Parts: sequence; structure tokens; C-alpha cells
Amino acid sequence: MKDFPYKIAPTGWFQVGWSHELAPGELRSMRYFGQDLVCFRTASGQIKVLDAYCGHLGAHLGVGGTVSGENVVCPFHGWSWNGQGRNTDIPYSERPVKVCIRHYPAVDSNGVILVWHDPDGGPPTWEMPQLPEYGRPDYFAANPHAMRKWTGLRFPPQLAAENTVDPMHFRYVHRAPRATVIEKFSTQGEYAYVLHDYAYGRHGGDLTPGGTVDGQLEVELWGVGIIVFRMKVYVEAAQLVNVTPVDDETSEMFFSIWLRKNDRSAEAPDEHERRVIEEQFRQVAMDIPIWENMRYTAPAPIVKEESPTYQNFRKWSRQFYVEATREDAAAASAREPASTH
Ligand code: FES
Ligand SMILES: [Fe+2]
Repeated sequence: MKDFPYKIAPTGWFQVGWSHELAPGELRSMRYFGQDLVCFRTASGQIKVLDAYCGHLGAHLGVGGTVSGENVVCPFHGWSWNGQGRNTDIPYSERPVKVCIRHYPAVDSNGVILVWHDPDGGPPTWEMPQLPEYGRPDYFAANPHAMRKWTGLRFPPQLAAENTVDPMHFRYVHRAPRATVIEKFSTQGEYAYVLHDYAYGRHGGDLTPGGTVDGQLEVELWGVGIIVFRMKVYVEAAQLVNVTPVDDETSEMFFSIWLRKNDRSAEAPDEHERRVIEEQFRQVAMDIPIWENMRYTAPAPIVKEESPTYQNFRKWSRQFYVEATREDAAAASAREPASTH
């Protein structure tokens, strides 16, 4: 996007699919973080992600490669590679070579597949916790009722993350009856928490015939790639909105909803409940044309009435960009007093 200050994909966990999409023994090609990758599920059920190119002569493991036990087998000369990218077998040679393919830590978490990206190749520095709504019988599972994916989006994950501290846009973009009010904002390491006082719907509206409903919108972020929106208005729902960079220009967005059942709910959402879910897909999509066509302003002239937290949010999110952390470290060392001896 125009004028976005960071070119290297951020550090953190990012969604690359849903857990049910990959059965044991299955493998698929993917492209994220500017890299060609393969993702496979081993016989024991572990998710593994490697650079797509074989460490021998460079065949693409996603084109004809197969999963065998805990390994992926290259289609070109049959070499095997484990989930850590180590060569474990060469069918026509006595022992494997000490060559590695880059591997990316990957996990199943809340029904989605997350991959750890650190541009310097470092290990994960946090784990994504289980959401309280996940696996609960009083919630409709996201799978198969409420999942959607958008591809080829021309904006970085940062925009969806920043949007969580933008109270005014709810009124203009999402057509809320009024702007939200941020009641709490706190951060701890990679985690950020935002609580909005939130009003939803209008009198005579399809889903809110009785008029505007006041409630809360709770937002949790783990890095800039994982956002949970927890709606407590005319319905209760947890929504996982995860944006993953494909390259410098484009991203994919994965949306999963766990909608709370009511006393009359059946096994699957009825027509009204499906409309609630569809409405949430529609709400998220409303931001897309803005995010895809805007220019990034930094520093941005945010007035105090809209969000004193906006700048704090940007400061917090710098930790996920290597360019920013290097800049900050250089500035800090320049400020240090000269040695006295
Ligand atoms: S290129 Fe993969 S085994 Fe030769
Ligand atoms: Fe939005």
C-alpha cells in the first residue's frame, strides 16, 4: 500500500487455513510472507510448514510431493524431509545429508492453522491461547457454519489491527447509529485489549426491530495478525479476524464466527441466525474498499475526540516490524551517554 513504512512481513502468528482443510497425509502449496511454502499434516496429525523448494536440487515439494509418516517426500529423487526441514532419508544413499530446508513453526489453534513468521527465523515468543468460546456446546462452531476467506486484498494486516481502535469509523463505514467510545485500552507484550461501548442497529432494522441496542465490543489482539472481536449487543459472538501477508502488496483475510446459541437454537443456525452471521461478514467487508485504496499517513493527525489510543496502538505495534525495532534500538543506543573512561 502507498506509503506504508514497513516492507518486511511482521513477526507473529498468522492464519494460513482452517484445521479441517488438511487431513493427515495431505499436503498443499501456499504463498505467504513473500515465500513459496508447503503445508502438510503428518500421519500423527502434526501440522508442518516448510519452504517449498527441496534442499537437494530444488524441486517444488508441493508439485508431486507426498507425505509419508512424519516426512514429506520429494517427487524428483525421493529424498525425505521431516517437519523441522531435516533430510531424513535418501533412498539410494547410506545416510542423509546435513542440509536443511527452512521450516516455519505451525500449530492448530481454535480450529485454524497458524504459522509463526519471524523474518530472522527466530522461534515463537508467545502462544495463542484457546478462546473460551471454542468447542463450547452453547456456541455454534465456526466450522462449518461461519467461515469466510478473502484473497488478493491490497492492504497489510496492520490496517485491520489499527481499525480496532478507530471509534469514529463505526459510524461512517459500518453505519452504526453512533461512534463507539473506547472504555479501556491496555497492552502487555504482544497482547492488546480494547473495550468499546458500542451501539448497534436502528429502529425497524432487520435484526434489531426494537431499535438501537447498546452493548460492548471487546477486542483482543495477539500481534497484528490475530484479532478477536467479541460482540455483546443484540447477540453474543466471538469473531476471529486474521489477516496474513502474502507479499508486500497483498494479504488474505480469514474470518471465523462462534455465535452464541439461545434457548431455542437447534444444532445448526436457523435462518435468522444465518442472517446474523451473514451480517457480520458484510460488516467486515465494508472496511475492505477503504483499506485497499487508502494511503498510510504517519504521523497521523488524530484529534483527541476520536481516539487518544490510536498513537499508543501504533507505538505498541512497532514491536512486530523488524525495521522499526532496529530503528528504535539504534535511536536508543544513540541516546546513551558516552563512556566515561
Ligand atoms: S530435488 Fe528433491 S530429491 Fe532431488
Ligand atoms: Fe471496521
